[in-house]
Amino acid sequence: MGNEKKLSGISWQDFKELPLAEKGEYFQAPPCHTLIAQQFSRAQLEELCALATKIRRISKRREGSNFLRTLLSDHRAMLYFAQPSSRTYLSFSSACKLLGLSTIDVRDSKTSSEVKGESPEDTIRTFSSYADMIIMRHPVGGFAERVAWMLSNTNRPIPVLNAGSGADQHPTQALLDIYTLERSFEKIGGIDGKSVAFVGDLARGRTVRSLAWLLTLYTDVKVYFVAPEQLQIGADVLELLDAAGMEYEVTQDFAAVMPKSDALYMTRIQDEWDVEGESTTIDTASFCINEEHLDVLKETAVIMHPLPRRKEISTDIDNDPRAMYWRQMRNGMWARAALILTTFDRQDEVNEYYADYDK
Ligand code: NCD
Repeated sequence: MGNEKKLSGISWQDFKELPLAEKGEYFQAPPCHTLIAQQFSRAQLEELCALATKIRRISKRREGSNFLRTLLSDHRAMLYFAQPSSRTYLSFSSACKLLGLSTIDVRDSKTSSEVKGESPEDTIRTFSSYADMIIMRHPVGGFAERVAWMLSNTNRPIPVLNAGSGADQHPTQALLDIYTLERSFEKIGGIDGKSVAFVGDLARGRTVRSLAWLLTLYTDVKVYFVAPEQLQIGADVLELLDAAGMEYEVTQDFAAVMPKSDALYMTRIQDEWDVEGESTTIDTASFCINEEHLDVLKETAVIMHPLPRRKEISTDIDNDPRAMYWRQMRNGMWARAALILTTFDRQDEVNEYYADYDK
């Protein structure tokens, strides 16, 4: 596999200008960064989902958990979260512990030497001296890519996993969303042929941008983008979907979309990106779901949300069997454990263990 593309073989300028689909080719060889949704193939997603399920089942038994903890006990992960996070941080940190990785973290750049004027690149390079992998969330779009390129060009080229960058990418959330959809539709033909509605702040929600792309890898999926005009999905995303030949509809009519959808992917208003509080002037009342709407939903539909939620999903529906957001969150831990194991190319050990495992 000597002809695989590597970040150490391209200048930052040339790499930065590549289209997303081509960038992904640079993350397949070690150190196997995970930076953008566009780097995954359907086969890779299917393998990761299958591995997540094996890890989930193996961890149910004590001897299984003990086995999993031996797998990466010689590795250390750095969790660098320069933006608020509960679920992503906790699920990555739990996934690391599940596999025996020890973790160190910086969750507030004010506590790192960045306040002394150190460049973010130098800060990360410092982190890399103490870790075998960096899991990072950063407010600047594309910064994870920059870091991955920089580390790939040092003598410690360790993998970078993007745990959310700016308003542009959240590839591991998209991975756990795919895992949730796959599990939810397991008995009704999988993700192929399903309709997925994205609802809420689609202009600034990075989870939607990443997941919408992954859905192009499935056959005959139809997507609805349901949002007030000011918060509609960006033209750049639609261009990618057009190029992939995906069928979609851009609409404000949530009531019409509800009964047609197999999955509703609700999102909150991302007002942290407001310049002058413009979100407060947008009426989002008709982009919410509550008990009154349940009757029109398909019986097999699922309601998802990357969380945190605000008013877009009423707590009244939390106990409906179609409310999938809490299970979706837990799926994050299994999907991220599968990704970490694959990053270090240790998945075969789980596959072998599982083959002999008394299911
Ligand atoms: C999302 C994020 O950070 O982009 N949260 C998450 O990772 N589960 C969604 C959000 O903050 O709205």
